[in-house]
Amino acid sequence: MRSYSLIAPAKINLYLEILGDRPDGYHELVMILQSIELADRIDLRATGTDTILVHCDSPQVPTNQTNLAYRAAELMAKQFPSVFAKFGGVEITIEKQIPVAAGLAGGSTDAAAVLIGLDMMWQLGLTQPELQDLAAQLGSDVPFCLAGGTALATGRGEQLTALPGLDSLYVVLAKDQNLMISTPWAYQTYRAQFGHTYVRDVESLEARAYRVHSGPMVQAIYNKQAVQVGPLLHNDLEKVVLPTTPQVLQLREAFASTGTLGTMMSGSGPTVFALAESEAQAQEIRQKVRAVITDPDVEFWVTRFTNRGIQVVSSVS
Ligand code: C5P
Repeated sequence: MRSYSLIAPAKINLYLEILGDRPDGYHELVMILQSIELADRIDLRATGTDTILVHCDSPQVPTNQTNLAYRAAELMAKQFPSVFAKFGGVEITIEKQIPVAAGLAGGSTDAAAVLIGLDMMWQLGLTQPELQDLAAQLGSDVPFCLAGGTALATGRGEQLTALPGLDSLYVVLAKDQNLMISTPWAYQTYRAQFGHTYVRDVESLEARAYRVHSGPMVQAIYNKQAVQVGPLLHNDLEKVVLPTTPQVLQLREAFASTGTLGTMMSGSGPTVFALAESEAQAQEIRQKVRAVITDPDVEFWVTRFTNRGIQVVSSVS
């Protein structure tokens, strides 16, 4: 039976600016996204049946039709019915390392791995634009997760411009395992509070996105001046999450007091990250924050930037 094993990295947002509303109900964004080495492992096994099955070692992850990895397989089966009929169903096993509902695109990256794995398993030979198009149907972060690395993202987050990698930086992540923030809630609350500032015409939207594209963070990335990225970190969603979620604010303040290169909430949270120049500095930051935040429910990870997206680690055909 055919089987594939893939590594699916998480992402952090180095920059997230909300520009305005879109006709499809989403927001126009401009973001700078970065893959990190913290990753899930996805095993796909052809079963020869007509069903899609998901297993996951984390009890927090649903294994039914609401799981984005399931939905990725379902989308592929619908899109390519004759190939699905020929090769049959698939068993998807997710070994979870990325915290769930954390603002790190854990579900999105698992779905991206399923798209790439099934493309190979079903010998479809899809092009990158075809895979990106399927990815965008599953969620705004899935196209980035397919490609990985460092990218500027506009539109809903699905229009990507690759940027050169900054793989020298380390990242400390912290998340309260009991805390989950709904992404729709974060965006809706932002709209309610800041909707009056939204840009409404296409020219202004393009100008704002261009300002980031030609701005200091992208310059620092092009010039490989990794340490300059820290003070430029930005996330508009902090404006609604920090005032309402004291645990996130506390983590953010604890990280800021450690002499880190920079600290920010990732995506819609609740994960907070801090950047460091070396693994030793990252470990020191982790220890300093742990000394202040002793709640055992707050978990820490030390990882680093990676230039890679989904990787296939083994295949048996
Ligand atoms: O695309 P995804 O399913 O990841 O988005 C989750 C939710 O986040 C959406 O339902 C929407 O409420 C919000 N969102 C948004 N604008 C974006 C991306 C996400 O409003 N560009």
